[in-house]
Amino acid sequence: MKPVKITDNIYWVGAVDWNIRNFHGYLTQKGTTYNAYLIIDEKITLVDTVKSSFFDEMLSRISAVVDPSKIDYIVSNHVEMDHSGGLPRLIEAAKNARIITSPNGERGLKAHYKADNWDFAVMKTGDRLDLGKRSLTFVHTPMVHWPDNMVSYLKEDKILFSNDAFGQHIASSECFDDEFPFDIMLEEAGKYYANIVLPYGSQVHKALEALTGLDIEIIAPSHGLIWRSYVPKIVKEYEKWAANETEDMAVIVYDTMWNSTERIAYAIQKAFDDKGISTKMMNLKTNHISDIMTHVLKARYICLGSPTLNNNMLPTVASFLTYLKGLAPKKRIGMAFGSFGWSGQSVGQIEEVLKEAGFELLNKVSIRYIPSEEQLQEVTESLKKQLVR
Ligand SMILES: [Fe+2]
Ligand SMILES: [Fe+2]
Repeated sequence: MKPVKITDNIYWVGAVDWNIRNFHGYLTQKGTTYNAYLIIDEKITLVDTVKSSFFDEMLSRISAVVDPSKIDYIVSNHVEMDHSGGLPRLIEAAKNARIITSPNGERGLKAHYKADNWDFAVMKTGDRLDLGKRSLTFVHTPMVHWPDNMVSYLKEDKILFSNDAFGQHIASSECFDDEFPFDIMLEEAGKYYANIVLPYGSQVHKALEALTGLDIEIIAPSHGLIWRSYVPKIVKEYEKWAANETEDMAVIVYDTMWNSTERIAYAIQKAFDDKGISTKMMNLKTNHISDIMTHVLKARYICLGSPTLNNNMLPTVASFLTYLKGLAPKKRIGMAFGSFGWSGQSVGQIEEVLKEAGFELLNKVSIRYIPSEEQLQEVTESLKKQLVR
């Protein structure tokens, strides 16, 4: 396995996971990478490791550059096991290495690996670690993605090792943003943000503020490709996402039993269409919830529909709603809709959750049995009146 040279004496030595399709519930159609970075200086330093099952791949890449026993420092920016899983075996191979991490990182690694005898050096925000000709500075970025997260900045080469931030789940033999179709990379970066980082907008905002003074030419995340040609672009996108800035766009998410709820969904779409607002129709039978979130990231309007089944919404809708609530998008406008036969609880239940999530609400729509053409027209017209523009 070959390492990839990033700049002089700095190498990507991670692993490519071509086969992973489910990352704790997130559909990763394009696979992913676990990125580890090797810095060759007076002190030989590895930034992050890989998922444990990819340890051998990482070790063979490290070994192509340097004897792993010579590693002095292993920076652990994040405890989650896709980045720390390789640590226990690496410490066997690099017996003299010190683990550089945040206070929560030390606690987390000890809890994960019973690592009381590892040699830890704990870094505060702003602490500098001298590597010889270079130095690493650390900035804590709690909750981007766990309480332990930090990023590491290599001043002399202007590289930010950002861990989960700015990542994308893409498996690729290419390593850099300018070697890969950019629109796909940006979409995957958005999907990653929507499914992993979205609940932590205010922390992302703080992290971005803490990084503003740094001169960054390369962002080297822990998943996917490295940003070197589009750094300002992705930072701008993150600022937008962290601020919950949305576009004039509606996502209409629904499941349907006998197509009545689906017909209401299309009547709702017509209202947005007539108002010149772009829409995405997302039937939960054919779209994965993690793909729907990619659109939710951009959309101002989230319309959610379900018929009533056994006094409840359909399980597919409940599942999406739970996922949406956990990811907590803000500054959105919600709308509940659905058809019913006799009891009709689903629409009220959906609306309740949207309200709890802090969404502004459009009038809900609940229609018994099969909606007539007149009823559907009324749905469209009433919604258009609410979409004042
Ligand atoms: Fe993570
Ligand atoms: Fe990760």
